[in-house]
Amino acid sequence: MATMDATAETAPPPAKPYLFHRHALAVRVTHWVNALAIFLLIMTGLNIFNAHPMLYWGEYGANPDVARQWLQIGADTNAAGQDFGFLRIGSLTVETTGVLGLSTGSNGAPSYIGYPSWATFPSYRDLATARTFHFFFAWVLIINGWLYLAFSLASGHLKKDLLPKLKELSIGNIVHDIVQHARLKFPKGEEAKRYHILQKLAYGGVVLVLIPGVILTGLTMSPGTNAAWPWLVELFGGRPSARSLHFVFANLIILFIIVHLLMVVLAGPINEIRSMITGKFRVDPETAA
Ligand code: HEM
Repeated sequence: MATMDATAETAPPPAKPYLFHRHALAVRVTHWVNALAIFLLIMTGLNIFNAHPMLYWGEYGANPDVARQWLQIGADTNAAGQDFGFLRIGSLTVETTGVLGLSTGSNGAPSYIGYPSWATFPSYRDLATARTFHFFFAWVLIINGWLYLAFSLASGHLKKDLLPKLKELSIGNIVHDIVQHARLKFPKGEEAKRYHILQKLAYGGVVLVLIPGVILTGLTMSPGTNAAWPWLVELFGGRPSARSLHFVFANLIILFIIVHLLMVVLAGPINEIRSMITGKFRVDPETAA
């Protein structure tokens, strides 16, 4: 009793920063393998897209099928005789000179190509090499994804950390998290130790919707898979539709990566990235709850 009374009368010692074990080894390893595979898949995918920078809906799609074409990246010449690059989506055309359709090639000369050389791998037109790397890293993504899912299900990571609880899905909680993000106010102290609703929706959406979606639509374009699982082509309404959806999923993943990296930088890149490398996340003393 004497000890308890003495403790109660003494001011609490100043809190010290401490390291909290945030990410399991399996999550860390699969995260970085996934990041490498996705970066290479995007760069090789853009090279492959450049071989035919147009997209169609339905079961058929080639140059003359303008009626089925919903997206095109290309170059044209204006009334003043100047070349320009453009992106056309439906009836909307946007001039994109310097980035899409017409950009500066790796040799400094104008390049009449869909995506610019800095965004593609290889940086020059080489469909065969791009496809070889794309298919290799697609299998890395698939195998790594199964390992991540198996670990996340077995350890409870998926249910405990990633899937939102019903009460977290209330409009009030979601709006509150959006406002906090807009004001660049990130959870501090104990609250920073878990994912909040926007993080859960973004990570869950990537892991359970976008990555499976990009994989399934990719498999739908493979003649080998068509033979084994013809229902996949039916599911996506034809190979040109699957190619269009593959492009949409890939672009949503690119959007996720841009926001993800921005959030990592804003939330404190050293602490965040260290936690994904060593597993240890530093909880700040003065902000700890
Ligand atoms: C250089 C690139 C990347 C960096 C620096 C990075 C960094 C990080 C960091 C620091 C975290 C932990 C966030 C936290 O604890 O609050 C994280 C988690 C995560 N990242 Fe990335 N990331 C990168 C690329 C990617 C890519 C390409 C994807 C997938 C498209 C991705 C998907 C995820 C997911 C799903 C999580 C949550 C993992 C889990 O808890 O199971 N990241 N990332």
